[in-house]
Amino acid sequence: MNILVVGNGGREHALAWKLRQSPKTDELYVAPGNAGTATLARNLKIASSDIEGLAAAAKEHRIGLTVVGPEAPLAGGIVDRFNELGLPVFGPSRHAARLESSKIFAKELMSKYGIPCARGRAFSSAGEAREYVNSVEPPVVVKVDGLAAGKGVTVAQTREEAMNAISDAMEARVFGPAGEKIIIEECLSGREVSVFAFTDGETVTPLVMACDYKRVNDGDMGPNTGGMGSYSPPEFIDAGTAQRICEEIMAPVVHAMTAEGVPYRGVLYGGLMITAQGPKVLEFNVRLGDPETQVILPRLETDLVDIMVAVVQGRLAEIDVRWSEEACVAVVMASGGYPGPYSQGFPITGLESLEKDVLVFQAGTSLAEPPEGNGHAIVTAGGRILSVVGRGADLAQARASAYRNVDRVRFKGGHYRRDIAKLDL
Ligand code: AMP
Ligand code: GLY
Repeated sequence: MNILVVGNGGREHALAWKLRQSPKTDELYVAPGNAGTATLARNLKIASSDIEGLAAAAKEHRIGLTVVGPEAPLAGGIVDRFNELGLPVFGPSRHAARLESSKIFAKELMSKYGIPCARGRAFSSAGEAREYVNSVEPPVVVKVDGLAAGKGVTVAQTREEAMNAISDAMEARVFGPAGEKIIIEECLSGREVSVFAFTDGETVTPLVMACDYKRVNDGDMGPNTGGMGSYSPPEFIDAGTAQRICEEIMAPVVHAMTAEGVPYRGVLYGGLMITAQGPKVLEFNVRLGDPETQVILPRLETDLVDIMVAVVQGRLAEIDVRWSEEACVAVVMASGGYPGPYSQGFPITGLESLEKDVLVFQAGTSLAEPPEGNGHAIVTAGGRILSVVGRGADLAQARASAYRNVDRVRFKGGHYRRDIAKLDL
């Protein structure tokens, strides 16, 4: 089968790496891809937002399965369009993608079906939102309803911060139409975990979990980023908590979507807080996480093509999805200055010198033609450049391996956190 992966980050490099291992995969394409995916697949110069361009490429290259990495094309209806054209595609429909693209839709669904989440209220008027903030004790969390590239959430410690978030979103329209409506919700405390399951709308596969690190500096200091590292499995989730997450959250939301006539097919990502009262939902995403994918796919023992095709065909019950006990730790290397302004185009060295069980998944990289000579050089082309994934029998071994190897990769200005998966923080 020919397969097309849509996207260009570390998540998509990891997807391409895993799909390449399947004996079912013939030609593999990534659109638009990066220098890492170019080593495993043919990159196509088509933006992930160009749904018609992607559909034309899927026809031309006789693609039997298209796998969509990021949320924007899903929210834009790529799955509906591909289905109209008879092109098999892995991911939720535009309407089902509202679990991520409308926080109000997700919250209403959860409250209707009794799925545990932070209590919240929706507002379409800034005045009413302000009145509400005056009536509750901070901290509160202000969230824009629509997609905001991970920037639409403010955990406000004071009323003033909450008021600023309300006027930024609803009056200054910093997030455009995504901020026309907002949710204000209670602030939960506990440990955060990212939970993933494949589903065809009926069957929900065994869960796999990971933790990610959003702040740029050690000790969770500094501004938010796209993610500076991750590890799997989380050491603080016991079997009882995992069972509750499955029975109280992941299975009920899938069955709720089906009951509402909007069956959800693809991979469902629950962003949860493990509170003193048990697991509660912070948000749903309708895709794999980045950089969580880089630490969960190495643990997948089942053929990924078999799983994805079964999801698309609605026969996931036939597939035995297994995750290994192995531990994985990903350390992300970023450009100097990131998440602020940064320069790019710097050569990356040391990639050939890594231990052989270590994985490197590239994100912001491209191939530069050297002025003379032998082949292409890999250069930086973005904020987050690559992740180095260490593997081991436990997290300590995986972590030691990731850090032994990330030190060998070099590019000008490159930086990374030193405390990923440091469990005694
Ligand atoms: P989200 O995009 O909804 O995952 O929110 C981004 C981050 O904001 C989460 O990873 C949490 O750290 C934080 N957050 C979101 N909702 C809440 C909440 N109700 N209570 C505390 N923290 C939250
Ligand atoms: N790791 C966070 C995300 O993918 O949304």
